[in-house]
Amino acid sequence: MTGARLLGSGSALPERVVTNAELAAKIDTSDEWIVERTGIRQRYIAGEGETTSTLAIDAARAAIADAGIPAETIDIIILATATPDNTFPATATKVQDALGCNGGIAFDVHAVCSGFLYALTTADSLLKTGMGKRALVIGAETFSRILDWEDRTTCVLFGDGAGAVVLEAPEPGAASESGILASRLHADGAQHDLLFVDGGPSTTQTVGHLRMKGREVFRHAVVNLANVLHEVLEKADVSVSDIDWVVPHQANARILDATAKKLGIPPEKVVVTVDRHANTSAASVPLAFDVARRDGRIKPGDLVMFEAMGGGFTWGASLMRI
Ligand code: UT7
Repeated sequence: MTGARLLGSGSALPERVVTNAELAAKIDTSDEWIVERTGIRQRYIAGEGETTSTLAIDAARAAIADAGIPAETIDIIILATATPDNTFPATATKVQDALGCNGGIAFDVHAVCSGFLYALTTADSLLKTGMGKRALVIGAETFSRILDWEDRTTCVLFGDGAGAVVLEAPEPGAASESGILASRLHADGAQHDLLFVDGGPSTTQTVGHLRMKGREVFRHAVVNLANVLHEVLEKADVSVSDIDWVVPHQANARILDATAKKLGIPPEKVVVTVDRHANTSAASVPLAFDVARRDGRIKPGDLVMFEAMGGGFTWGASLMRI
């Protein structure tokens, strides 16, 4: 059975752009180092009044407008974030209230940079089992609020933003050309201390700061992503050459290049926005997807592979016919 179908997408970014040069004026780094090692040229940073929920709501409204449906018809909201407005309630409930579609399912998913893949796959499963008819899946983050701005090894890498998609349940028994064809999710908790936040409600009663052993994360990322992409292709019974677009998690241009090379995917089929947005964690895949749909690259009928890897480690991939 084909899974949930795409009805629309949207995204949102904070107003303020911070360039590499601006960071280099404050910490011991350079535009040259950041571009060469990561491909990042700038990032958007949330200002006063901009939070994970405001970005999520803006992205959700854009996705609903693109879908051309009344917001009240959405009965599932899943929001992927590691930077919620509050420890609880789920930021998804704030989004639900702002959209005026109260009464359905609303919860947050916490799988860091893989969060959107986890949320998308969960929404697909709920829709396929009749738990709802229309789902809003959002990735939204304000990582700038958990960065140690004196740690040059991490603070130059991340940015804030949000992306969203609206999905519809497949018609029971009806064959459909479009929709999610296959997904795979994984986690390896043995690696939880390679990428983590050094605080939290139950340990330090603080929010904490992001810490990462970058080189080791890089090594695992390429291997795990290449493996999960193969798994999804096999599950969907399609070959690498059938893929029209790969929309990867935007962590580092070098990871995108290395993964595409390992799989034999030409670089021109990979959507890259890391230069503009930096790493926006759970927001990066839906944000890049929306950019590529709106600029006309991704079209109806295209076969699109989403993939991400992040803290935990968690990783996953999902194949969708648009
Ligand atoms: O989204 C979740 C997944 N996250 C990722 O996928 C991130 C994966 N990792 C990476 O993208 C890369 O490992 C980084 C971009 C984080 C680092 O690149 P690298 O090529 O692995 O560099 P490195 O950590 O090996 O550091 C090389 C040098 C070091 O100096 P020494 O020890 O060789 O003298 C660092 O201190 O670069 C130095 N360095 C910097 N220099 C200027 C580290 N950060 C900076 C900086 N500016 N911002």
